[in-house]
Amino acid sequence: MPPYVFFEKQFMPLENAKIGVLTHALHYGTACFEGIRGNWDSEQNRICIFRIQDHYKRLLNGCRLLKIELPYSIDDLCQLTIELLNKSGFNEDVYIRPLAYKSSQSIGVRLHGLENELLIVATTLGSYLGKDRVRCCTSSWRRVDDTMIPARGKISGIYVNSALAKTEAEENGFDEAILLSSNGHVSEGSGENIFAVIDGTLITPPSPDNILIGITRNSVIELAKKELGVDTIERSIDRSELYLADECFFTGTATHIAPIIEIDNRTIGTGDIGKITGDLQKLYNKVIKGSNPKYNKWYTFFSP
Ligand SMILES: Cc1ncc(COP(=O)(O)O)c(C=O)c1O
Repeated sequence: MPPYVFFEKQFMPLENAKIGVLTHALHYGTACFEGIRGNWDSEQNRICIFRIQDHYKRLLNGCRLLKIELPYSIDDLCQLTIELLNKSGFNEDVYIRPLAYKSSQSIGVRLHGLENELLIVATTLGSYLGKDRVRCCTSSWRRVDDTMIPARGKISGIYVNSALAKTEAEENGFDEAILLSSNGHVSEGSGENIFAVIDGTLITPPSPDNILIGITRNSVIELAKKELGVDTIERSIDRSELYLADECFFTGTATHIAPIIEIDNRTIGTGDIGKITGDLQKLYNKVIKGSNPKYNKWYTFFSP
């Protein structure tokens, strides 16, 4: 079956969906998006779409920040997504990318007085960082501040900040960048939240350090507490605290849980996957396939 897309209020083959060259969002980054994973369970022959309602809640919050009015509720968006998967017939892991955007064919920087559209596309996506142990650098770029672009929205324009940091990191031989906030605290990766393990407790930066409030971050906090009895403290973290942490890892929908073994050419902990990181990875990788009824609130099942 050809991949389908929901575009300009209808479903169509991906190849037929075309954006006009004057589309406002293309020029000015006036859009927000989500990344949602559907995880294939070959035993049950079904896809578990993980925390789809939470992703669409964050998308609609982003729309409020950008004055994008859409005629869809969270339930409508979930329904459209299921319909899209139905038409596309995936029987493997899928990555769902909704994008709400300023669609007017119009020159002029602003948010008001413009038309809005929504598209949803689904594709396959393997391991995002492509490594099971990640080497990082501290970026020379600082994470956008809420006084510049609202960091709690997954806003397209913000990703120029992420792209600058990611390319700098890779061109310098690292796998990923860690961005500091403008006041010098650890914020997050270019597309992931970050955790440190210090003396058996998880530590992760709070919202005022301009993180995207990650859904994986939230899942990991809950799983750590309920399944491993490990607490999380949300507090500002200094760069050098990461160097001295027992373990560090990234979290994200695309990334899952990625162990960080090196930062700025310093070995973190033993230089291998730490105990708590490894336990969380095993738990998380099972839970996201829909295997644990305790977490039914996170699951939307779909059978092709
Ligand atoms: C900048 C940034 N931070 C954090 C995350 C992690 O968020 P989530 O776990 O909701 O995917 C992402 C990915 O969406 C991201 O792009």
